[in-house]
Amino acid sequence: MQSIQNLISNQQPGYSLAQEFYTNREIFQLELERIIYRHWIFAGHVTQFPNPGDFSVLNVAGESAIIVRGNDGALNGFANVCRHRGSLVCLEEHGHTDKFTCPYHGWMYDLDGKLIAARDMPDDFDRKTRSLKRVSVEVVHGLVFVCFTDKPLSLEACRSELAEPMAMFDFENLKVAAQKTYDIPANWKLSIENYQECYHCATAHPEYARMHTLMLGDDRRDRVQQHMEDRMAACGVKNIYINRVDTAAPDGEMGYGYSRTALFEKYKTGSKDGQPVAPLLGDLTDYDKGASDFNFGPFSFMLAYSDHVVAYVFTPIDHNNSRCEIYWMVRGDATEGKDYDVDALTWLWDVTTISDKEIIVNNSKGVHSKYYEPGPFSEMEKEERTYVEWILRELKS
Ligand code: FES
Ligand SMILES: [Fe+2]
Repeated sequence: MQSIQNLISNQQPGYSLAQEFYTNREIFQLELERIIYRHWIFAGHVTQFPNPGDFSVLNVAGESAIIVRGNDGALNGFANVCRHRGSLVCLEEHGHTDKFTCPYHGWMYDLDGKLIAARDMPDDFDRKTRSLKRVSVEVVHGLVFVCFTDKPLSLEACRSELAEPMAMFDFENLKVAAQKTYDIPANWKLSIENYQECYHCATAHPEYARMHTLMLGDDRRDRVQQHMEDRMAACGVKNIYINRVDTAAPDGEMGYGYSRTALFEKYKTGSKDGQPVAPLLGDLTDYDKGASDFNFGPFSFMLAYSDHVVAYVFTPIDHNNSRCEIYWMVRGDATEGKDYDVDALTWLWDVTTISDKEIIVNNSKGVHSKYYEPGPFSEMEKEERTYVEWILRELKS
C-alpha cells in the first residue's frame, strides 16, 4: 500500500475515496486520533438527565463514557474505566444510581467520579489519586455533546450562531419520545457519506421522496422553496441560512450549519400522510411545510420539522462497523398517547434508515472488491464531496 500521506495527495478531487480509506486499519488509527476522539458527538438531551444520579453511557470506537448528573446539578463525563485494573465500571446503558460499583472487585465511585470505597488496600493507599478520568461534556441549548479529549474544539461559535434557529424549535425544552439504534456493518464514512447526499433518495427511499424535495432539479426545487418562504413568516419560522460546516468551520471551533428546505405541498411534516404527528414546536404558530437541517460537527445531524426533531448520530465501532443512533424529540410538555403516537412519529425515519442500512452495506461490499475504483460525484453529492475533502484535510500532516 502507498503511504497514507501519498494516498491523500493522490486522491482525485471530486471523486469518492480510495479503497484504503474504507478498509485499512492504520488509516482508521489516524482517524481515531485526528477526527473521532477530537470531535464532539451528540449523546442525548438534558431532559434525559433530570435528577442527580441519572446517567447514560456512550460507546464510540472502543472508548466508553459515563455521562451523569452530579449532586451539584452539573452534567459530568467520565471515562468508563476503573482506576483499579481497568474494567468497565458501568455496564448498563442508562439508568439512575447514587454510586458506580465496579463489577470486578467492587471499587465504588460517587457521582463526581471520586473513589469512595476500595476493600483490603494497603494503609498508604490514597483514594484521592484514583478518581475516574474526565471526558469532556458540554450542553448546547439542551443538547448534550461528548468529546474524548481534554482539549476539545470550542462550541462557542456554534452555540451563539445557532441560538436563533434552535430557539425557534425550543431545543432547550424538547424531550426524547423514542430512541433506536441501527448497527451498520460498514466503515463509518460510508454511513455518513450516505446521509450527506440525496442522489440516492429517488431510487432508494420512495417514502422519503414522496415528501422531501431535496432530490428535485434546481428549477422545480426553487419554485417549491419559494412557496415555503412565502409562508414562513406567518408560521413563526425565520428564514435563516448558516454554512459553517466541515471545511467552512471557524478556526478552533466545531463546524455547524442550518438551512430549511420545503416539503411537497401535501406534507406539513415528515409523516406517512403528511399530517402532524405531535404538537407544534416552540413558538411556531402554523406549518410552513418545511424541514430544517441542523449540522453539529462531523457525526451529529438533526432534522427539525415543525412538530418534531429527528437527531441522527453516526459513530464508528471499528474500521468495518458503525452505528446509527436516532432520537425522535417532541416538545417537552407533549404526552404520549394523547399528543403523539410513537409508531406514527418514528415511521418515516425508521423505514428510511432500514433501507439506508441496506444500501450502505451493499456499497461497503463493492468498495471491498478488487474491481472498486473511486468514481465521480454527481452535482447532488456536493455536501458529501465537502465532507470527504474535510476528512482528507484532517488526516493530512
Ligand atoms: S478493576 Fe475495578 S475494582 Fe478491580
Ligand atoms: Fe438515505
